[in-house]
Amino acid sequence: MHVTTIANQKGGVGKTTTSINLAVGLANAGKRVLLLDFDPQANTSSGLGVDVDDNVSAYDSLLEGTPLSTCIIKTRFENLDIVPANMDLSGIEIELAGKDDQILRLKSILQPLKDSQEYDYCIIDTPPSLGILMTSALTAADDVLIPLQCEWFGLEGLSKIIKIIFQIKESGSNPKLEIGGIIMTMYDGRTNLSKSVVAEVKEYFGEEMYDTLIPRSVRISESPSHGLTIYEHDKNGVGANAYLAVTKEFIKRNPS
Ligand SMILES: Nc1ncnc2c1ncn2[C@@H]1O[C@H](COP(=O)(O)OP(=O)(O)O)[C@@H](O)[C@H]1O
Ligand SMILES: [Mg+2]
Repeated sequence: MHVTTIANQKGGVGKTTTSINLAVGLANAGKRVLLLDFDPQANTSSGLGVDVDDNVSAYDSLLEGTPLSTCIIKTRFENLDIVPANMDLSGIEIELAGKDDQILRLKSILQPLKDSQEYDYCIIDTPPSLGILMTSALTAADDVLIPLQCEWFGLEGLSKIIKIIFQIKESGSNPKLEIGGIIMTMYDGRTNLSKSVVAEVKEYFGEEMYDTLIPRSVRISESPSHGLTIYEHDKNGVGANAYLAVTKEFIKRNPS
Protein backbone atom coordinates (compact mmCIF):
# COMPACT_ATOMS: atom_id res chain seq x y z
CA MET A 1 0.00 0.00 0.00
CA HIS A 2 1.53 3.22 -1.18
CA VAL A 3 0.61 6.08 1.16
CA THR A 4 0.19 9.55 -0.35
CA THR A 5 -0.61 12.55 1.81
CA ILE A 6 -2.27 15.53 0.17
CA ALA A 7 -1.08 18.60 2.00
CA ASN A 8 -0.80 22.34 1.89
CA GLN A 9 -1.22 24.43 5.03
CA LYS A 10 -3.27 26.91 3.02
CA GLY A 11 -7.01 26.34 2.88
CA GLY A 12 -9.05 26.44 -0.28
CA VAL A 13 -6.30 25.26 -2.64
CA GLY A 14 -7.99 22.04 -3.78
CA LYS A 15 -6.73 19.41 -1.30
CA THR A 16 -10.14 17.91 -0.67
CA THR A 17 -11.26 18.14 -4.30
CA THR A 18 -8.06 16.40 -5.36
CA SER A 19 -8.33 13.74 -2.63
CA ILE A 20 -11.85 12.81 -3.70
CA ASN A 21 -11.33 12.84 -7.44
CA LEU A 22 -7.92 11.17 -7.34
CA ALA A 23 -9.15 8.43 -4.99
CA VAL A 24 -12.25 7.76 -7.08
CA GLY A 25 -10.19 8.00 -10.28
CA LEU A 26 -7.84 5.32 -8.95
CA ALA A 27 -10.74 3.13 -7.84
CA ASN A 28 -12.37 3.50 -11.27
CA ALA A 29 -9.06 2.37 -12.77
CA GLY A 30 -9.38 -0.86 -10.78
CA LYS A 31 -6.98 0.04 -7.96
CA ARG A 32 -7.93 -0.81 -4.39
CA VAL A 33 -7.99 2.45 -2.52
CA LEU A 34 -8.31 3.55 1.07
CA LEU A 35 -9.15 7.22 1.57
CA LEU A 36 -8.31 8.60 5.00
CA ASP A 37 -10.11 11.82 5.85
CA PHE A 38 -7.85 13.48 8.38
CA ASP A 39 -9.50 16.90 8.39
CA PRO A 40 -12.04 17.44 11.22
CA GLN A 41 -14.09 19.51 8.76
CA ALA A 42 -14.86 16.16 7.08
CA ASN A 43 -15.38 17.68 3.64
CA THR A 44 -13.94 14.64 1.93
CA SER A 45 -16.34 12.34 3.75
CA SER A 46 -19.42 14.47 3.12
CA GLY A 47 -18.32 15.21 -0.46
CA LEU A 48 -18.48 11.48 -1.11
CA GLY A 49 -21.90 11.28 0.48
CA VAL A 50 -20.62 9.51 3.61
CA ASP A 51 -22.57 10.21 6.79
CA VAL A 52 -20.20 12.14 9.05
CA ASP A 53 -22.48 12.04 12.09
CA ASP A 54 -21.91 8.34 12.58
CA ASN A 55 -18.99 9.14 14.84
CA VAL A 56 -16.54 7.02 12.96
CA SER A 57 -13.07 8.48 12.51
CA ALA A 58 -9.46 7.61 13.21
CA TYR A 59 -9.80 9.25 16.65
CA ASP A 60 -10.14 6.14 18.85
CA SER A 61 -7.51 4.34 16.89
CA LEU A 62 -5.04 7.18 17.36
CA LEU A 63 -5.84 7.54 21.03
CA GLU A 64 -6.34 3.94 22.17
CA GLY A 65 -4.46 2.04 19.50
CA THR A 66 -7.57 0.10 18.38
CA PRO A 67 -7.09 -1.25 14.84
CA LEU A 68 -7.72 1.31 12.14
CA SER A 69 -9.47 -1.43 10.17
CA THR A 70 -12.43 -1.12 12.55
CA CYS A 71 -12.96 2.47 11.36
CA ILE A 72 -13.05 1.63 7.66
CA ILE A 73 -16.36 1.87 5.87
CA LYS A 74 -17.28 1.05 2.32
CA THR A 75 -18.24 3.79 -0.11
CA ARG A 76 -20.70 3.49 -2.98
CA PHE A 77 -17.68 3.08 -5.27
CA GLU A 78 -16.28 -0.34 -5.93
CA ASN A 79 -12.65 -0.59 -4.72
CA LEU A 80 -12.92 2.55 -2.56
CA ASP A 81 -13.12 2.44 1.23
CA ILE A 82 -12.88 5.37 3.59
CA VAL A 83 -11.93 6.20 7.14
CA PRO A 84 -14.20 9.21 7.60
CA ALA A 85 -13.49 12.26 9.71
CA ASN A 86 -15.58 14.03 12.30
CA MET A 87 -15.17 16.92 14.70
CA ASP A 88 -13.69 14.59 17.36
CA LEU A 89 -10.51 14.58 15.33
CA SER A 90 -9.85 18.20 16.21
CA GLY A 91 -9.42 17.06 19.83
CA ILE A 92 -6.42 14.98 18.80
CA GLU A 93 -4.24 18.08 18.77
CA ILE A 94 -4.87 18.50 22.50
CA GLU A 95 -5.09 14.82 23.47
CA LEU A 96 -1.79 13.90 21.90
CA ALA A 97 0.12 17.10 22.72
CA GLY A 98 3.15 16.30 24.80
CA LYS A 99 3.11 12.54 24.13
CA ASP A 100 6.52 11.51 22.72
CA ASP A 101 5.06 9.35 19.98
CA GLN A 102 2.38 11.88 18.98
CA ILE A 103 3.33 12.22 15.34
CA LEU A 104 4.24 8.55 14.93
CA ARG A 105 0.86 7.13 15.92
CA LEU A 106 -0.79 7.38 12.54
CA LYS A 107 2.17 5.68 10.92
CA SER A 108 1.94 2.79 13.37
CA ILE A 109 -1.84 2.28 13.04
CA LEU A 110 -1.45 2.25 9.24
CA GLN A 111 1.27 -0.39 9.35
CA PRO A 112 -1.04 -3.45 9.71
CA LEU A 113 -2.93 -2.27 6.61
CA LYS A 114 0.36 -1.93 4.74
CA ASP A 115 1.30 -5.44 5.84
CA SER A 116 -2.06 -6.92 4.81
CA GLN A 117 -1.67 -5.66 1.22
CA GLU A 118 -5.42 -5.19 1.09
CA TYR A 119 -5.08 -1.85 -0.68
CA ASP A 120 -2.88 -0.55 -3.48
CA TYR A 121 -3.06 3.07 -2.41
CA CYS A 122 -3.95 5.09 0.65
CA ILE A 123 -4.76 8.76 0.07
CA ILE A 124 -4.79 11.04 3.12
CA ASP A 125 -6.57 14.39 3.06
CA THR A 126 -5.28 16.84 5.66
CA PRO A 127 -6.48 20.04 7.34
CA PRO A 128 -5.12 23.48 6.40
CA SER A 129 -2.95 23.91 9.48
CA LEU A 130 0.50 22.94 10.63
CA GLY A 131 -0.66 20.93 13.63
CA ILE A 132 -0.29 17.33 14.74
CA LEU A 133 -2.79 16.01 12.18
CA MET A 134 -0.80 17.33 9.25
CA THR A 135 2.62 16.40 10.59
CA SER A 136 1.34 12.90 11.48
CA ALA A 137 0.05 12.47 7.95
CA LEU A 138 3.42 13.56 6.54
CA THR A 139 5.20 11.19 8.90
CA ALA A 140 3.00 8.27 7.80
CA ALA A 141 3.38 8.94 4.06
CA ASP A 142 5.62 7.60 1.34
CA ASP A 143 5.13 10.82 -0.52
CA VAL A 144 3.27 14.10 -0.44
CA LEU A 145 1.20 15.66 -3.18
CA ILE A 146 0.87 19.42 -2.95
CA PRO A 147 -2.10 21.07 -4.63
CA LEU A 148 -1.17 24.65 -5.44
CA GLN A 149 -3.54 27.37 -6.50
CA CYS A 150 -2.39 29.37 -9.53
CA GLU A 151 -2.10 32.60 -7.55
CA TRP A 152 0.92 34.52 -6.25
CA PHE A 153 0.07 33.86 -2.62
CA GLY A 154 0.17 30.19 -3.53
CA LEU A 155 3.90 30.43 -4.12
CA GLU A 156 4.52 31.86 -0.63
CA GLY A 157 2.73 28.92 0.89
CA LEU A 158 4.72 26.49 -1.21
CA SER A 159 8.06 27.40 0.34
CA LYS A 160 6.56 26.86 3.78
CA ILE A 161 5.27 23.35 3.09
CA ILE A 162 8.55 22.38 1.41
CA LYS A 163 10.37 23.52 4.54
CA ILE A 164 8.12 21.36 6.72
CA ILE A 165 8.73 18.35 4.50
CA PHE A 166 12.47 18.81 4.92
CA GLN A 167 12.11 19.23 8.67
CA ILE A 168 10.20 15.95 8.88
CA LYS A 169 12.84 14.17 6.83
CA GLU A 170 15.69 15.60 8.87
CA SER A 171 14.05 14.98 12.24
CA GLY A 172 14.32 11.28 11.45
CA SER A 173 10.57 10.66 11.85
CA ASN A 174 10.25 9.97 8.11
CA PRO A 175 13.61 10.20 6.32
CA LYS A 176 12.22 8.63 3.13
CA LEU A 177 9.39 11.12 2.63
CA GLU A 178 9.37 12.32 -0.96
CA ILE A 179 7.63 15.11 -2.80
CA GLY A 180 5.36 13.09 -5.05
CA GLY A 181 4.32 16.10 -7.04
CA ILE A 182 2.82 19.54 -7.19
CA ILE A 183 -0.60 19.81 -8.79
CA MET A 184 -1.54 23.22 -10.14
CA THR A 185 -5.20 23.91 -9.40
CA MET A 186 -7.76 26.53 -10.45
CA TYR A 187 -5.77 27.29 -13.57
CA ASP A 188 -7.24 30.01 -15.74
CA GLY A 189 -5.56 29.96 -19.14
CA ARG A 190 -6.96 33.40 -20.00
CA THR A 191 -4.87 35.13 -17.37
CA ASN A 192 -1.16 35.89 -17.48
CA LEU A 193 -1.08 35.35 -13.74
CA SER A 194 -1.98 31.67 -14.03
CA LYS A 195 0.59 31.20 -16.79
CA SER A 196 3.39 32.90 -14.92
CA VAL A 197 2.73 31.00 -11.67
CA VAL A 198 2.87 27.73 -13.61
CA ALA A 199 6.08 28.82 -15.36
CA GLU A 200 7.66 29.75 -12.03
CA VAL A 201 6.79 26.43 -10.40
CA LYS A 202 7.98 24.53 -13.47
CA GLU A 203 11.29 26.39 -13.40
CA TYR A 204 11.99 25.57 -9.75
CA PHE A 205 10.44 22.14 -9.47
CA GLY A 206 10.72 20.75 -13.00
CA GLU A 207 9.34 17.24 -13.26
CA GLU A 208 7.87 17.43 -9.78
CA MET A 209 5.10 19.58 -11.20
CA TYR A 210 2.34 17.48 -12.72
CA ASP A 211 1.89 18.08 -16.46
CA THR A 212 -1.86 18.20 -15.98
CA LEU A 213 -3.24 21.58 -14.93
CA ILE A 214 -6.58 21.51 -13.14
CA PRO A 215 -8.72 24.28 -14.66
CA ARG A 216 -10.85 26.64 -12.62
CA SER A 217 -14.29 25.23 -13.21
CA VAL A 218 -17.70 25.98 -11.77
CA ARG A 219 -18.64 22.35 -12.34
CA ILE A 220 -15.78 21.23 -10.08
CA SER A 221 -16.87 23.60 -7.31
CA GLU A 222 -20.52 22.53 -7.59
CA SER A 223 -19.97 18.80 -7.41
CA PRO A 224 -19.44 18.34 -3.61
CA SER A 225 -22.75 20.03 -2.80
CA HIS A 226 -24.46 17.27 -4.78
CA GLY A 227 -22.33 14.61 -3.05
CA LEU A 228 -20.92 13.77 -6.47
CA THR A 229 -17.48 13.40 -7.94
CA ILE A 230 -16.58 15.42 -11.02
CA TYR A 231 -16.80 12.21 -13.07
CA GLU A 232 -20.50 11.98 -12.22
CA HIS A 233 -21.38 15.67 -12.08
CA ASP A 234 -19.81 16.60 -15.41
CA LYS A 235 -18.76 13.46 -17.18
CA ASN A 236 -16.55 14.33 -20.19
CA GLY A 237 -16.23 17.95 -19.02
CA VAL A 238 -12.86 19.71 -18.65
CA GLY A 239 -12.72 19.05 -14.90
CA ALA A 240 -13.40 15.33 -15.25
CA ASN A 241 -10.82 15.06 -18.02
CA ALA A 242 -8.24 16.90 -15.95
CA TYR A 243 -8.71 14.65 -12.91
CA LEU A 244 -8.63 11.61 -15.15
CA ALA A 245 -5.28 12.82 -16.52
CA VAL A 246 -4.01 13.47 -12.98
CA THR A 247 -5.00 9.91 -12.05
CA LYS A 248 -3.05 8.53 -15.00
CA GLU A 249 0.01 10.59 -14.13
CA PHE A 250 -0.27 9.45 -10.52
CA ILE A 251 -0.33 5.78 -11.52
CA LYS A 252 2.63 6.29 -13.83
CA ARG A 253 4.61 8.00 -11.07
CA ASN A 254 3.58 5.45 -8.44
CA PRO A 255 3.08 2.05 -10.06
CA SER A 256 1.26 -0.28 -7.66
N1 LIG B 1 -10.51 23.50 -10.04
C1 LIG B 1 -11.43 24.16 -9.33
N2 LIG B 1 -12.20 25.10 -9.91
C2 LIG B 1 -13.11 25.79 -9.18
N3 LIG B 1 -13.36 25.59 -7.89
C3 LIG B 1 -12.63 24.66 -7.24
C4 LIG B 1 -11.63 23.89 -7.92
N4 LIG B 1 -11.06 23.05 -7.02
C5 LIG B 1 -11.68 23.28 -5.85
N5 LIG B 1 -12.62 24.24 -5.97
C6 LIG B 1 -13.49 24.78 -4.93
O1 LIG B 1 -12.69 25.61 -4.09
C7 LIG B 1 -13.02 25.41 -2.72
C8 LIG B 1 -11.81 24.89 -1.97
O2 LIG B 1 -11.45 23.60 -2.50
P1 LIG B 1 -11.07 22.41 -1.53
O3 LIG B 1 -10.77 21.25 -2.36
O4 LIG B 1 -12.10 22.24 -0.46
O5 LIG B 1 -9.73 22.99 -0.91
P2 LIG B 1 -8.97 22.61 0.46
O6 LIG B 1 -9.31 21.22 0.81
O7 LIG B 1 -7.53 22.81 0.12
O8 LIG B 1 -9.43 23.60 1.48
C9 LIG B 1 -14.18 24.45 -2.71
O9 LIG B 1 -15.37 25.19 -2.68
C10 LIG B 1 -14.06 23.72 -4.03
O10 LIG B 1 -15.29 23.22 -4.49
MG1 LIG C 1 -10.04 20.39 2.57
